[in-house]
Amino acid sequence: MNDETVPALSAAPLLPPHVFADQSSRGGVAVRALLAGAGGYLPRRIVTNDDLAARLETSDAWIAARTGIRQRHIAEPDETATFMGATASRAALTAAGAVPKDVDALIVATSTPDEAFPATAVRIQHALGIAHGFAFDLSAACSGFIYALGVADALIRTGQARGALVIGTEVYSRILDWQDRGTCVLFGDGAGAVFLTAGAGSGASTDRGLLSTHLHSDGAFGDLLSVDGAVGRRDRPGVLLMNGREVFRHAVARMAEAVDEALAANHLTHEDVDWLVPHQANLRIIDAMGRRLHLPTERVVVTVDRHANTSAASIPLALAEALADGRIRPGQLVLMEALGGGLTWGSALLRV
Ligand code: ACO
Repeated sequence: MNDETVPALSAAPLLPPHVFADQSSRGGVAVRALLAGAGGYLPRRIVTNDDLAARLETSDAWIAARTGIRQRHIAEPDETATFMGATASRAALTAAGAVPKDVDALIVATSTPDEAFPATAVRIQHALGIAHGFAFDLSAACSGFIYALGVADALIRTGQARGALVIGTEVYSRILDWQDRGTCVLFGDGAGAVFLTAGAGSGASTDRGLLSTHLHSDGAFGDLLSVDGAVGRRDRPGVLLMNGREVFRHAVARMAEAVDEALAANHLTHEDVDWLVPHQANLRIIDAMGRRLHLPTERVVVTVDRHANTSAASIPLALAEALADGRIRPGQLVLMEALGGGLTWGSALLRV
């Protein structure tokens, strides 16, 4: 085990400060959700594949070859979904050059809330010192961040919110069966957040902001990936169960459809995409999606090797990292996609 501290990620502000004063530009001009900043938090403790192999019948070679995962961050008791989400949110606001009073909607995507209620979102809202606006949790497993982006986009476009924090925060380590080598090696803990602000756009697909989100679900496949219990069932707190092969098959097929749908809806092709920021479940799934888009590997943001699968936190963590290190730059087109328990799946296109 490694006790290395991982600082919150942050980047330079993406939008000039005037954007916050420019939110009423409606009157015939389409309002868009613009990405103002992103941030992340990873738990202090790193658990490597070798650490797992010391207490489980597995190996670094098996895990790395099948998934691309080398290590994961595992939360200590003080690193709750609320703590990690609030820390990631502060980093996102700092990156945006914004302050908590700029936030009037706060959406948390999580399958591992600290409590049944109050929502983790409301706990984070309070931790940030925000006492206006509204906050709520959203449950869509690994697709949660894409779903939350879709909801935030709708709130902003319809004028119900002007500044929205969209957060994915997960502590899957608390719902894993640590004796089940087929699942426990795949996941890690962490949080990522983006701050979106309302801004003027002409509606042309080359403009900045969220161009579209496409969301899907089909409960017929609910048992392929589930947690067989909840706070409402005292007899069974629940552990994660998965049919890995079937999930893999659906992941590639459904995410490919969602990607095609996003590009077609915006009259774009794979050649227009600068970056793929996929849900980080498995390097083989990520590679398959990159090949489909004809994107060279250096245009695909990969964190699964270091973070493992952090569910709803994986995309905002990857986005925050690539913005902070300058890979993703203003004006570039970012395609995001995910599939998760439900099954849920979807895609989002963002001009940074
Ligand atoms: N270490 C060593 N051996 C293992 C391990 C392990 N950690 N886990 C399973 N095995 C063994 C199995 O017992 C099996 O042994 P057997 O042949 O003697 O029975 C063998 O490895 C093959 O097992 P499979 O499950 O068939 O292996 P597969 O090649 O399908 O890989 C994996 C498993 C990595 C889970 C793969 O199916 C996968 O990535 N699926 C996608 C699931 C996923 O990413 N889920 C995340 C949530 S959903 C999402 O985010 C998209």
